[in-house]
Amino acid sequence: MKQAVKVKEGDSVAARLLGWYDRHARVLPWRARPGEKADPYAVWLSEIMLQQTTVATVGPYFMRFLARWPRVGDLAAAPVEEVMKEWAGLGYYSRARNLHACAIAVVRDHGGVFPDDEEGLRTLPGIGPYTAAAITAIAFGKHAVVVDGNVERVVARLFALDEPLPAVKPEIRARAATITPLRRAGDFAQAMMDLGATLCSPKRPSCMICPLEASCEARAQGTQETYPRRAAKKARPVRRGACFFLTRPDGAVLLRRRPNKGLLGGMMEVPTGEWGADTLSDEALLLSAPAPVAWRRVPGLVEHTFTHFHLELAVFTGGRRRGRQRRPMASGPHGRNWPARHCRP
Ligand code: ADE
Repeated sequence: MKQAVKVKEGDSVAARLLGWYDRHARVLPWRARPGEKADPYAVWLSEIMLQQTTVATVGPYFMRFLARWPRVGDLAAAPVEEVMKEWAGLGYYSRARNLHACAIAVVRDHGGVFPDDEEGLRTLPGIGPYTAAAITAIAFGKHAVVVDGNVERVVARLFALDEPLPAVKPEIRARAATITPLRRAGDFAQAMMDLGATLCSPKRPSCMICPLEASCEARAQGTQETYPRRAAKKARPVRRGACFFLTRPDGAVLLRRRPNKGLLGGMMEVPTGEWGADTLSDEALLLSAPAPVAWRRVPGLVEHTFTHFHLELAVFTGGRRRGRQRRPMASGPHGRNWPARHCRP
């Protein structure tokens, strides 16, 4: 049989999707089981963690946070340094600071109870339009239109929306609103996410077993893989610089924390110099070394592509290992931009 689920004439998109969700919902640690009431604290925690991070990565972090701080008041009372430590590895550290600030605000301004609508939720630190809608729907079962990246793809295909991202976003939202049911809005939101994460995948979607196949305009045209449309990519500029891996005789490595705001905000890093467009000589790169020791260039480059630029860093190692002879020092001013500290491995 071509379809696992028989499509009844007149069944709405929402009815078919919810029926599919009842049978195939992913079991995720923050989800209420059928018949259970959702815990707004757990829903909020998971939604903050899931911003820019995958479901698979978030699972263990979510469990540890909930075991250590079972209620929002416990998290609010925790020292921010402990929250940051528990967050280590999830990245985008401003989220952890906002998480803690939000827990404090919920306790201080709302008696420890999360607001149950988008407007109230949006006044809290770290809660933007998407997260407010997701919490409203999932934690409180209230009507809200929830559109994340997976949902964008499903809706762009369902309605064969030809305008490219990001210009098409308002249209996607408007179309999503037309199919979001008044009842079970939270299940509907999570069903759309699950559909996007499993069957309606970016490449080779599994249309044959999709509960929405009969309604999907892109499928009817055979063009499903081309949605969502994207504007041609602009070439990314390249930034170049050097980073410095400095060890102390006891094995400690020099690290510093990046400023809280901006790229990789609040993350620890080995010191780097300025990043510019030019390829500089080793001598010029060493002018920003953090200490006057003998530096050795490691062959090759460390490369990483960010949204707006590509980064290439030369790597220098320096410092003495236990029992090693002192080598001659590199010359240069060895400026240090931010306070640095040594961390033992
Ligand atoms: N991504 C963001 N929120 C999610 C949720 N509640 N379930 C699955 N994936 C998600």
